[in-house]
Amino acid sequence: MGSLAPRPAPTHVIAHLSDPHLLAGDRLLSGRIDTAAQLRQALSRVEESKETFDAIVLSGDLTDSADPDAYALLLEIAQPVVDRLGAALVMTGGNHDERRPLAATLFGSDTDAPQDRVTHLRGLRLITLDSAVPGYHHGGFSDAQYNWLATELATPADFGTVLVMHHPPITYHSPTMAMLDFDDPARLGRVLAGTDVRAILSGHLHVTTFGTLSGIPVMVAGGVSYVDDVGAPRELMIGVDGPQSWNLIELHAGAEGERMGEVVASVAPVARHPGWPALSEAVRDYMSTVPADDRREVFSRKRS
Ligand SMILES: [Fe+2]
Ligand SMILES: [Fe+2]
Repeated sequence: MGSLAPRPAPTHVIAHLSDPHLLAGDRLLSGRIDTAAQLRQALSRVEESKETFDAIVLSGDLTDSADPDAYALLLEIAQPVVDRLGAALVMTGGNHDERRPLAATLFGSDTDAPQDRVTHLRGLRLITLDSAVPGYHHGGFSDAQYNWLATELATPADFGTVLVMHHPPITYHSPTMAMLDFDDPARLGRVLAGTDVRAILSGHLHVTTFGTLSGIPVMVAGGVSYVDDVGAPRELMIGVDGPQSWNLIELHAGAEGERMGEVVASVAPVARHPGWPALSEAVRDYMSTVPADDRREVFSRKRS
């Protein structure tokens, strides 16, 4: 039985939420989803997790119809939470957003340029790149965006880079979403190959799913507003009021003192389901008194 040394904490922790599709006023999405309530609930679960977050990432479709009041509502809901958490609020647009009202309300900028940004978090670089193509629902980057990205990535960051883009550059199973997906994963893959990009965080699909691009993990958050039913026939898109979720993204250091090791995504439900204490506070408190080298023997051994 080997010893069980305490695991080092992740170097960086991100709460990745996507597709709030906020509507201003009392309007319900598809006549049934209270999008503001969903985002409030998701962020309250983020806070309840008691993790120390470096950033709250919102990966697009921030609003459903780009109403300026909906962007204001987003800040009204999210800003107090990120302030309490001491985290950065990192946002990018999606196909349901429009550049000008997004830029005006979220960034105080009177422009229809994509709001592509770099955020540095204690040596970790987050790059948000707006993959929404004006006038369409599919995704893509302009030549200027590809050039900007390549120039930025030419200089590595201490803890590497996480790229945030709404349209995931992976092959999703739905032939319908194929008409609405990112237009050139191969080109993006060539730009990212050999860089310090450790993960790509996306949304858009309303399904939690994972893939790779040039060996880089692509982690898709399933959406806090509604979910697309993967169990439905693949040519259909059936929205369901559940199971909405967000992703807890943990970036770890590597072995041998390397700054960059694993990136791990865990899916966290937005809803509060009935629960029970699988591990009671009493057991937790007792285990904290057990020497680290004895913990596996005490906790893992089968009792009968
Ligand atoms: Fe969406
Ligand atoms: Fe989308």
